[in-house]
Amino acid sequence: MQDYHDFIDEVLVDEKAIETRVAELGAQISRAYAGQELLIVCLLRGGLTFTADLTRHLTIPHTLDCMSLSSYGVGHYASSGNVRVNLDLMTNIEGLNVLLVEDIVDSGRTLAHVLHMLKTREPKSLQVCVLLDKKYRREVPVEVDYVGFDIPDKYVFGYGIDIDEHYRHLRFIASADMKKYKKTP
Ligand code: PRP
Repeated sequence: MQDYHDFIDEVLVDEKAIETRVAELGAQISRAYAGQELLIVCLLRGGLTFTADLTRHLTIPHTLDCMSLSSYGVGHYASSGNVRVNLDLMTNIEGLNVLLVEDIVDSGRTLAHVLHMLKTREPKSLQVCVLLDKKYRREVPVEVDYVGFDIPDKYVFGYGIDIDEHYRHLRFIASADMKKYKKTP
C-alpha cells in the first residue's frame, strides 16, 4: 500500500471539523425524530465509520442494520451507474422510520437505486443522511435530507472512503492527486 503522503492533494475536512459536524447532525436527527423509534441503515462499506460516530450522538431510541451495494462496469474510480446489491437488510422495514446513512453521494445512482428498492417495502418514512455531497457530479436527482459537507469534484479518501480498499481508517477526508497514486499489485 502506497503511503498517502505521496499522493495527497489537500485535507478537505479535518478531524475536528468532522467531529463537530457529526455531533451537530446527531443532535438535528434526534430532534427531528423525537418521540419516535428509528432504524439506521448503514450503507457498507463507505458508510461504516460515519454511521458508528453518528449513532453515538443520537439521543433517541434506534436500531441498526446494514446493506452493501456496489457499482460495477466501466470506470474503476467513478461510479459506472450499474448498482448491485451484495448484502440486503435483515430487518423488515414495513411501517418503520428508516434513515439511510452513506459516506458520499456522487452521481446519485447508488442512492437512487437503494431508495427505489426500499420504498417498495413500505416504510413509515425514509430519509437520507450523507456526510459528503459532490453536488456537481449528480446524474440522477436524489433527495438528501441531511448533509455534512458539500465538497468539490475531487477524488477523496479517508473517514470510511477508500482507494482500492485502503485508507478508510484515516480520521480526516483528503483529496488525492491520482496522477501520483500507484496501485500496489
Ligand atoms: C461509493 C460510496 C457510495 C457511492 C457513491 O461506494 O460509498 O455508495 O460510491 O457514488 P454514486 O452517487 O455515484 O452512486 P462504492 O461502490 O465505492 O463502495 P464502498 O462503499 O464499499 O466503498
